[in-house]
Amino acid sequence: MTLTAQSSSTPRLPYDINRIRRDFPILKREIGGVPLVYLDNAATSQKPVQVIAELTRYYRDHNANVHRGVHTLSVEATELYEGARAKIAAFIGASDQHEIIFTRGTTESINLVAHGWGRKHLQAGDEVVVSEIEHHSNIVPWQMLRDERGIVLKYIPMLPDGTLDLEVARSIIGPKTKLLSITAMSNALGTIVPLQELIPLAKAHGALVLVDGAQSVPHMAVDVQALGIDFLAFSGHKMLGPTGIGALWGRMPILESMDPFMGGGDMILNVTMEQSTWADVPAKFEAGTPNIADAIGLGAAVDYLSALGMDEVRRHEIEITDYALRRLADVPGVSIFGPMDAQQRGGVVSFELEGVHPHDIGQVLDTKGVAIRTGHHCAQPVMAALDVPATARASFYIYNTTAEVDALASALEAASAFFGVRA
Ligand code: ALA
Repeated sequence: MTLTAQSSSTPRLPYDINRIRRDFPILKREIGGVPLVYLDNAATSQKPVQVIAELTRYYRDHNANVHRGVHTLSVEATELYEGARAKIAAFIGASDQHEIIFTRGTTESINLVAHGWGRKHLQAGDEVVVSEIEHHSNIVPWQMLRDERGIVLKYIPMLPDGTLDLEVARSIIGPKTKLLSITAMSNALGTIVPLQELIPLAKAHGALVLVDGAQSVPHMAVDVQALGIDFLAFSGHKMLGPTGIGALWGRMPILESMDPFMGGGDMILNVTMEQSTWADVPAKFEAGTPNIADAIGLGAAVDYLSALGMDEVRRHEIEITDYALRRLADVPGVSIFGPMDAQQRGGVVSFELEGVHPHDIGQVLDTKGVAIRTGHHCAQPVMAALDVPATARASFYIYNTTAEVDALASALEAASAFFGVRA
């Protein structure tokens, strides 16, 4: 079925941060007697009542297996599940809702491409190009394929400011490149990758392009047609949806040319004791009972973001990131990693406090109610390039306020004083 209704037709609400915050019950929590300041959104976002209610409504009123029954509940569950697929397709500009394959998230989506497309179409000597700022989920599947099939894995290096070296990109993307698999936004540094410059380099050599949208799809408008890409992988839990649900979008002819990832129920056309044939896309890639409730919950999350408008989401994040970059730069001993221009990064600020291990920073901040992530952020090559074992990372979303950035800065000032950091 071809989609006609796009998410842009969803009625827009004014960007009212107080109203938005009221939709997130968890933001009323206190941690050790002080208000929660949740700044770990790149790890996972919080969930609005609209998503929680949709999950409850599904289990309370419609729970049944999909695509299998003729009874009323099964038909309702199937309509809700397929309706969520249509909403997600419209949200990223897909022309056909069947190009959306539900997965557990970005990691599974990239592994699906490595298995279903890579193992089918790549041969020894073929090149896959990634970058040094990828999440492990866009490195390890390709290393596994390299070790198994003899493909060549090439990296676009990171420059000291956390951006990519486009000169080197121009020299390594060439006739042997079969796939450029690249993040749109670094989860560790927030760097926004200039896809509009990289994609034509791959396309000029007939290579496919996979975009890891785990950090971009939740935070900015993403249109797969405008980008001219072939695959987009993303996760629901970073965009107000439940955990354990995400999607792979791919162009239909490419998806049709791929082998299934897993075998089992729902992905077959016909099974005999000798052999089996496959169902059409997307069923071919959705073996077994799917994560029905969470797909429907993700549909509700897409409704919520569409009502806000992704341009407004991005505008809010530029504002708050710009404020955070300026505010944290004033804290004694703090050094910020990555580009210093908020236009060049998503709502992620990775930093170190001179002489203090990031885990200690995280613990002191937790005593002030401030939740950040510390560690290597599943991006160890970025840590190696920065020559640090780990960073502290604050990451923002639609409900964060400048007052919360002030709380982060005050907590860091307290940590700085506690650990005796020199200015
Ligand atoms: N990939 C997630 C993060 O960046 C978990 O924290």
